[in-house]
Amino acid sequence: MTPPAAGARSEAARATPLGEDKRPEKIARMFDAIARRYDLLNHVLSGGLDLVWRRRAIRELRLSGRDTVVDVCTGTCDFALAAVRPPAAPGRAGRVIGIDFAPEMLRVGQAKLAHAGLDARVPLLRGDAMRLPLADRSADAVTVAFGIRNVFDPTVALGEFGRILKPGGRVAILEFALPRTPIVRAAYLWYFRHVLPRIGRLVSRHAEAYTYLPASVGSFHEPATFAAMLERAGFEHVRPIRLTFGVVYLYVATRAAATG
Ligand SMILES: C[S@@+](CC[C@H](N)C(=O)[O-])C[C@H]1O[C@@H](n2cnc3c(N)ncnc32)[C@H](O)[C@@H]1O
Repeated sequence: MTPPAAGARSEAARATPLGEDKRPEKIARMFDAIARRYDLLNHVLSGGLDLVWRRRAIRELRLSGRDTVVDVCTGTCDFALAAVRPPAAPGRAGRVIGIDFAPEMLRVGQAKLAHAGLDARVPLLRGDAMRLPLADRSADAVTVAFGIRNVFDPTVALGEFGRILKPGGRVAILEFALPRTPIVRAAYLWYFRHVLPRIGRLVSRHAEAYTYLPASVGSFHEPATFAAMLERAGFEHVRPIRLTFGVVYLYVATRAAATG
């Protein structure tokens, strides 16, 4: 068989199912470059709502205080920290394994965990959402906040979540969306296209990251489509929950007992 021409091969290697360039090394490099300013920008650009959205996601998981939660795309560990604070309390995780492929994001997260005295409860691993370095049926819950739209092939990642979850295990996935109500959508798009990239560029000093954000949100799956993907990946009781006028969706679902 004739191998494809080099150009054709590199095009194929770059194209995600949605046709964007989301090569892992490119995404990891971009997040590493903004790691030190990431938290500040998150809180400023969302008006502090990111903290509320993560807390809501953790509430929906109804954790027992003993559960093992895997936080995929953990970044600087805000979701992982929210899931273990206060330690061992009902509604919180027993421990969280944080996974991300960007070493600088993890380094910032590790410092925050150490500062909070919670590093023993939150081990961090470097790895890709599409090939999780964990055993089958080893987790009670999987969380992802604002990470799934960056993953090269989200279907593969959802398959991995199903693999590492125990039967009956839960997922909680937060992701941005575009609001449907025309006036809210217009205001949001204006903010997203004109205000957010400027503030993002100014504070992070990264030319691309905060234009990539609105572009990647605009091209991610519609909530109903993503919910259907979860069902096809073997999850049941899939609930897309609309938050803050639909700028964010929280997807909660349960791994079907019969999967894998
Ligand atoms: C927008 S940040 C979200 C971080 C954190 N979850 C939060 O709530 O702030 C996205 C993170 O996902 C990570 N990421 C993206 N694709 C990934 C993949 N395929 N595997 C592992 N990490 C990934 C990036 O390195 C980045 O740290």
